[in-house]
Amino acid sequence: MARILITSALPYINGIKHLGNLVGSMLPADVYARFQRQRGHEVLFICATDEHGTPAELAARAAGQTVRDYCREQYEIQARAGEAFGLSFDHFGRSSNAPNHRLTQHFAKVLEDKGLIEERTDRQIYSIDDQRFLPDRYVEGTCPHCGYEKARGDQCDNCGRLLDPIELKDPYSAISGSKHVEVRETRHLYLLQSKLQDTIAQWVESKPQWPALTKSIAKKWLKEGLRDRSITRDLQWGVPVAYQGEKRPGFENKVFYVWFDAPIEYIGATEEWAVANNEDWERWWRTDKGAGDVKYVQVMGKDNVAFHTVSFPCTILGSEEPWKTVDALKSLNWLTWYGGKFSTSENRGIFMDQALELLPADYWRWHLMANAPESDDASFTLEHFAGVVNKDLADVLGNFVNRITRFCKARFGEEVPGEGAYGDAEAQLIAELDKRMAVYAGCLEEMEFRKAFAELRAIWVAGNEYLQIAAPWTVIKEDRERAAASVRCALNLIVLFAALSRPVIPFTADKMFVVFDLDPEDAARWPQSAEAALSRFNGGEGFSPPDVLFQKIEDEQVAQWRERFGAA
Ligand code: MF3
Ligand code: ZN
Repeated sequence: MARILITSALPYINGIKHLGNLVGSMLPADVYARFQRQRGHEVLFICATDEHGTPAELAARAAGQTVRDYCREQYEIQARAGEAFGLSFDHFGRSSNAPNHRLTQHFAKVLEDKGLIEERTDRQIYSIDDQRFLPDRYVEGTCPHCGYEKARGDQCDNCGRLLDPIELKDPYSAISGSKHVEVRETRHLYLLQSKLQDTIAQWVESKPQWPALTKSIAKKWLKEGLRDRSITRDLQWGVPVAYQGEKRPGFENKVFYVWFDAPIEYIGATEEWAVANNEDWERWWRTDKGAGDVKYVQVMGKDNVAFHTVSFPCTILGSEEPWKTVDALKSLNWLTWYGGKFSTSENRGIFMDQALELLPADYWRWHLMANAPESDDASFTLEHFAGVVNKDLADVLGNFVNRITRFCKARFGEEVPGEGAYGDAEAQLIAELDKRMAVYAGCLEEMEFRKAFAELRAIWVAGNEYLQIAAPWTVIKEDRERAAASVRCALNLIVLFAALSRPVIPFTADKMFVVFDLDPEDAARWPQSAEAALSRFNGGEGFSPPDVLFQKIEDEQVAQWRERFGAA
């Protein structure tokens, strides 16, 4: 039994997440966590809301709330949506909670003691009308690279380049729109990442198992040379620049930069979990306190990779303290909405709460994971979604379960029939299943989700084909024992399918276990072999056919949803 720590990139607090965010980190992390729990490993799956920085402040202002109230409310909304989607976090924390404050301040202190932090004078945009500095997204203007007129201070949405706010042409305040701005001097803390170039390069080299996308992003940053980076901002909301309650002189109105404190919340959220559950967080994070044998897996969208392969490692390796660092890093590409961007403000795309108003979580979970944006960006369309649900879930899996349970009930009653023995057809099926189950588990282990779920689909199809050939509905007329054996085999398959499918469609899997009155936690232990799985029931076990597992999606529904969610 291994110990596996899994973190999903922390969703920003500024509003409920869309399907693209979901499949970009939280959902694949959940599938992997569920799989490893079923394998019998000790899993700790951690997530939290990322609550600081200008996006939170701007969203609160737009909602007419204080940032504190806004974040509290949005945290509850995201926590509920995650639960409704079956995201099995052991803890869903908040980066604004006390452990993250303490840890962030601790890291800053240690880094400074190591000579890796320096105060510098910066030039920043100051709004005379708003009487404040305008960091990051608080300032907008014309992109110096592409001429886009609504570029944000930290990044241009048109050409994607990262910007320094003072590079913007014709800058104006995102708060008041005022152009009455000037460049003023302000002091900030800089993390001297340039001094950590070799440390990070060596550490990246020590991770040969990282996937190509991850590695190439890390190497690109290293090749350009690590640059010192400012880790404080002129803002109110965030982790104060203080140590043990003592504010740093000259920094009374400043906080740490959101990207400095957010990844530290992986550790902070683990501490929140430990406090709430009377557990020990250090055994997951400190290699001197037992975390040496932990496997640490991070899941995130590709825009987050540089922060996790370079910036956050600078923080933890720079401290020279024995922190656990990431072992396997899964990064995903973008899911697009009909080839374009999901957008709250322009009502384009489906958000987590809306999705569940339309259909149960498993419909979305299956489609998103079976078509995850892995090797490339992937486009979500309602037409494709409906096709996949109707075919894979309704026709293949759902139909299998309904057909065989109903047939058995009608001809043998509500008990698994014990007559007859398995023969060639079953032996062939078992051989195919064993092969496919090994491939499937291997892909999940590697977090190759598309391949994994193509294999799972093939496993369901193999069950259908078996039933097609065994045809108990015909055979029963001449050979009742033979028919009974194939019905028994098919009923056993339902339980096998449920166990194998549970990482991705947990709600449905549990319904399938309930058909046989099995305890899901127990029945979902990862199947060792097809042969063992298909001899779980030998006859006499009771069951009751479930309601239809999956409803088909009708063309009219697709048309309605297209209208409602702005499909071009
Ligand atoms: N909130 C960030 C995003 O959505 C991700 C933060 S991940 C963490 O892109 F490492 F900072 F926690
Ligand atoms: Zn641009």
